[in-house]
Amino acid sequence: MKVNGVEYRTIWVDDDGWRVKIIDQTRLPHEFNVITLTTADDAARAISTMMVRGAPLIGATTAYGICLAMRHDASDTALDQAYKLLKHTRPTAVNLQWALNAMRQALNKVEETHRVDAAYAFAAKICSADIATNQAIGRHGFELLRKIASNKPAGTPVNILTHCNAGWLATVDWGTATAPIYTAHNAGSLVHVWVDETRPRNQGAALTAFEFNQQGIPHTVIADNLGGHLMQHGEVDLCIVGTDRTTAQGDVANKIGTYLKALAAKDNGVPFYVALPSSTIDWSIGDGLNEIPIEQRASDEVTHITGRNEEGKLTTVQLTPDGSDAANYAFDVTPARLISGLITERGISEASASGLAALFPEHAKLSR
Ligand code: MRU
Repeated sequence: MKVNGVEYRTIWVDDDGWRVKIIDQTRLPHEFNVITLTTADDAARAISTMMVRGAPLIGATTAYGICLAMRHDASDTALDQAYKLLKHTRPTAVNLQWALNAMRQALNKVEETHRVDAAYAFAAKICSADIATNQAIGRHGFELLRKIASNKPAGTPVNILTHCNAGWLATVDWGTATAPIYTAHNAGSLVHVWVDETRPRNQGAALTAFEFNQQGIPHTVIADNLGGHLMQHGEVDLCIVGTDRTTAQGDVANKIGTYLKALAAKDNGVPFYVALPSSTIDWSIGDGLNEIPIEQRASDEVTHITGRNEEGKLTTVQLTPDGSDAANYAFDVTPARLISGLITERGISEASASGLAALFPEHAKLSR
C-alpha cells in the first residue's frame, strides 16, 4: 500500500540483502519512521513493544527474527535459543507460533552452512504467501460487499464497521478485514468505514485511519462506544474485523471490545464477519473462551494516552487519577454463535467446526 504516494510493505529486507526494515507503528500516524533490525533481539523487542503488531505481521517479523539469529550463528543451539526468545514476545496471536514452527521445520532439514540463505528464502515465502492470501480474502469479501450493495439504493455506500487495525499495517500488505474494502474501492464500489478508535492503544484512530487516509478510503473515526447506537439506527450494513486466533470450532480472539461489537450486531441483525488467513486458525483447540491465552499488558496503556501536541511533538499525558488501578486485557473472545461467517483465502465459511472442516479438510483431519 502507499504512504505519501510511495509503495511500501510493512516489512522488507534492505538492499544489503540481510538487514530487516520495519515501519515503527508506535509513532504513527504522526511520524513515519523506518527502523532497521539487525538481531533476533531487535525483532523480539519490535514485537513486544508493538513497533510491529497485528497477527500476520507478528508472524512475518518472527520469521525474519530467525533469519537474523541464523546470520549470527546457524547452529541448532542458536536456532533453539531464537525460537525460545521469539516465542514469548506476545501470547495471543497464533501466527507467531505458526511462523516459528514453519521456520524451524524448514531449517531443521538444511545443513548449517546453507541455513542463512534458506532462512531468508523461507521468510520471503511467508511474506509473499501472506499477500496472496489477503488478496484472496479481498476477492471473497468483495463478493459479499457486492451482494449487500445490490440491496441498497444506487449511489449509497456500503457502511462497514471495523475494530482495531486489521489493515495492511497488521499484515505484510493488503490487510485481512481491509482487503475486501480495498478491493471494492479499487473496483469503483462505494464504501464508507466506521473506524472504532480502539482504546487503549487506539489502533483504529491511529493506524486504520492513517491507512484509509493514505489510500483515499472514505471513513469516519468513532469512539468505541458509538457502534451500538449506529447499528440501532441502520447506519452499519456489516462489521468486518480481524482475528489473532481462531479455534477449530470458529471462536475468535481479537482486540478487546470485539465481543461487544458482535453482541450489538446480533441484537440489531447486522452481519458480523471475521476475515482471516488460515495461519490464524489454531486447529488444536475448540473452546476459545477457555483455551485461548489472553495477553495482559501494562496498565499505563490505559492510564496514559499519547498524541501530537500543539508544537507538533508526540507527547504522553495521564488520564486517570494517581492511585487508581487499571486493567489491560488486550483481547477478548467472540463465540462462533455471534459470527455470521469467516472470510478466508479459500472462501467464506460458517463459523463452526463443520464449516471450517469443509474448507480445510486436511487440517480438520489432523486435529481430530
Ligand atoms: O494488539 P494488536 O494491535 O497486535 O492487535 C491486532 C488485532 O487485534 C488485529 O485485529 C488482529 O491481529 C488481526 S490483524 C490482520
